[in-house]
Amino acid sequence: MGNSLAISSGTPLTDREWPRWPQPGDRALKNLEDVLTSGRWTISCAYQGRQSYEQQFAELFAEYCNSTQCVPVATGTSALAIALEASGVGAQDEVVVPGLSWVASSSAVLGINAVPVLVDVDPSTYCLDPAAVEAAITDRTRAISVVHAYSAVADLHALLDIAERYSLPLIEDCAHAHGARYSNWPVGAFGTAGAFSMQGSKLLTCGEGGAVVTDDPEVAARAEHLRADGRVLRRDAVGVGEMELKETGQLMGSNACLSEFHAAVLLDQLDLLDEQNARRSRSAAHLTDRLTALGLTPQQTSVGTTERAYYRYAVRLPDEVLAIAPVARIAQALTAELGFAVMQTHQPLNDNPLNRPSTRRRFSLGPEYTGRVDPSRFELPVAKSVHESVVTFGHEVLLAPLEAIDDIATAFEKVLAHAGELAA
Ligand SMILES: Cc1ncc(COP(=O)(O)O)c(C=O)c1O
Repeated sequence: MGNSLAISSGTPLTDREWPRWPQPGDRALKNLEDVLTSGRWTISCAYQGRQSYEQQFAELFAEYCNSTQCVPVATGTSALAIALEASGVGAQDEVVVPGLSWVASSSAVLGINAVPVLVDVDPSTYCLDPAAVEAAITDRTRAISVVHAYSAVADLHALLDIAERYSLPLIEDCAHAHGARYSNWPVGAFGTAGAFSMQGSKLLTCGEGGAVVTDDPEVAARAEHLRADGRVLRRDAVGVGEMELKETGQLMGSNACLSEFHAAVLLDQLDLLDEQNARRSRSAAHLTDRLTALGLTPQQTSVGTTERAYYRYAVRLPDEVLAIAPVARIAQALTAELGFAVMQTHQPLNDNPLNRPSTRRRFSLGPEYTGRVDPSRFELPVAKSVHESVVTFGHEVLLAPLEAIDDIATAFEKVLAHAGELAA
């Protein structure tokens, strides 16, 4: 490959326009206008004589996840915190979380005054390593929170077995995995509860939003209380102008309700999800063939996965290339060739500037607690090695036509051929 790298003032491999994200569907504007004039912008305002968008979404998303209950919430982080608390986790309890994840895996646990226990990941799926989970369990462990990361489904078979043997709730963090399936069953429906994020970059999005799904009516009732200041939706007939939320006094909560605007957009987006996921999977399969032929190792998923959802495409670079050039430089060079952001994975949570409980006074609950929540006490060699060898990019790129996907493979080929120019 003669042409020098775009990062060193060569010509970029392509100047094509890549698909952008998010993409509104046909129903979005109409739904939003409808909310605007409905007289009800959130479920915490009076009933206006018809089902809220929030409840329409709750019903459809529960069905989508083959779950009996769905409680929509304001963010993925609140979904995680509420799912954990509704499953019985509280102050000082330990929760096993993956060490390679967005900071929310840790902050949601800290937010309910519990203790995140950072556990290493599997080198091929980048999801929780079941053997490491089992080794981390103590008599203070109260839950396991697993992330189906990037484009993989975690080893649910092994994790459910551990959860059962130790009588621990398993919370599935499905922020990356809307529509993924394991044993032909949707993720989120295996554990005690599934927590979803609908933040702007996600496969199903409304800007900021989230949801908890569960089959356990008691977990659902607690989640409802926790997200609406201790109130739950009335199941009896409600008159126009009356509050649909009933004050029960059974469990104190705070406000993490999803607004009607957000629910209206989610209803639009949910219609599109399966077709978009299918296109992303087709592109990913094509790219995986091309990159494997070049000696790269795409992220694997657990045996038992029957449908992947590609939130981020992730691929490990060859050792001989990493011996010459650092992963961060390779990611920058690919970005310059392709015109979209290619990045490393999340930074491991034991060494991540966003995961510093000591910067926040609300976590100053005494020296013992401070020591327990200090992330630097954990060793995460696999997470570190994944961070130092894997590049990723966002799912919207996979919505491009197959000839554009070929450009991605060709850009990898070009950058690897010129790795010597990227030496540290
Ligand atoms: C794995 C994971 N869990 C939870 C979250 C938190 O979601 P939110 O940003 O909606 O609070 C994210 C956000 O990116 C995430 O990647």
